[in-house]
Amino acid sequence: MITVTRLAKVYSQAGRDIHALAGVSLEVPAGSVHGVIGPSGAGKSTLVRCLALLDRPTSGTVEIDGVDLAAVPAGQLRQARRRLGVVFQHANLFDSRTVLDNVAYPLEIAGVARRERRERALELLGLVGLADAAGAHPAQLSGGQRQRVGIARALATDPDVLLCDEPTSALDPRTTDEILDLIAALKARLGLAVLVITHEMHVVKRICDTVSLLEGGEIAESGPLAAVVGAFGSRLSESLLALPGELVDGDVDVLDALTPGREPALEATARALGAAPRIVAGTVETLGGTTFHRLRLATPPGFAPGALVTALTAHGAHAQEVAR
Ligand SMILES: Nc1ncnc2c1ncn2[C@@H]1O[C@H](COP(=O)(O)OP(=O)(O)O)[C@@H](O)[C@H]1O
Ligand SMILES: [Mg+2]
Repeated sequence: MITVTRLAKVYSQAGRDIHALAGVSLEVPAGSVHGVIGPSGAGKSTLVRCLALLDRPTSGTVEIDGVDLAAVPAGQLRQARRRLGVVFQHANLFDSRTVLDNVAYPLEIAGVARRERRERALELLGLVGLADAAGAHPAQLSGGQRQRVGIARALATDPDVLLCDEPTSALDPRTTDEILDLIAALKARLGLAVLVITHEMHVVKRICDTVSLLEGGEIAESGPLAAVVGAFGSRLSESLLALPGELVDGDVDVLDALTPGREPALEATARALGAAPRIVAGTVETLGGTTFHRLRLATPPGFAPGALVTALTAHGAHAQEVAR
């Protein structure tokens, strides 16, 4: 479990204070993945640096299983860092070392005996599906394989927390999904608390149990995936279930979080009105275990948008007339 409490980081530049992080609090229990998503300049990299102990926060605490990392004396930072593995956008492997020796590197630093390092590294390579590549050099691997090596290396010191900074931003869509599925599998198998920093909605949808929107150094929205998506009109909801197309006055935006046993609001509404609204744009997705209908409907001829909104709402959906 990683607990971040009122974390702040102020940079001074040319006599001016820049509040890169302005009191960020979040919690990631063991065996779950938390995504932090945010635009450029939001403070994502600063958060990673503070959590990875590469930078000292101005105030606030970072605790792993109750141990306050910010209070660790400088001389013990290396030891404290072992509780947290970091995966970067690029694996940054040593080209001159074999895959095995790359994975064993953190153990070498920690003074683990050669034979034990080798055994542990082989075990980790098996865990990430690269047992056969132990003797290869990084240059012989694909981007996805290199990232697997990076993940194995991050796990070498048996950390409780895995911090992933844009782990798939340099990968193609198929390799991205392979790496995301690997991270999800490792979370379950090793009981890791995983924190993923990303700008990709796809990453959030595929592996995150909970998600935060970071903006201007503050958490603007946060919660379990189904809850943030179900908050109609919230920024995360709009981004995670984005609809294409132009907005037209008189159309109606709908978010229907389906609950077992209830008829979807669109069908119930069509029956109640005796007229079927036309779907202008729509997506059906299951996120965090809840299936969502995100629709934009054209009001049927002879009805006012307000009547459509009222009917949809009466049948359990969120609905609102499009306002351009
Ligand atoms: N070393 C630094 N010195 C001064 N300002 C910085 C430094 N690092 C980051 N910042 C500022 O802090 C804010 C957050 O930056 P950053 O964490 O890199 O955001 P992100 O990774 O989300 O794009 C930005 O306004 C950035 O200019
Ligand atoms: Mg950044």
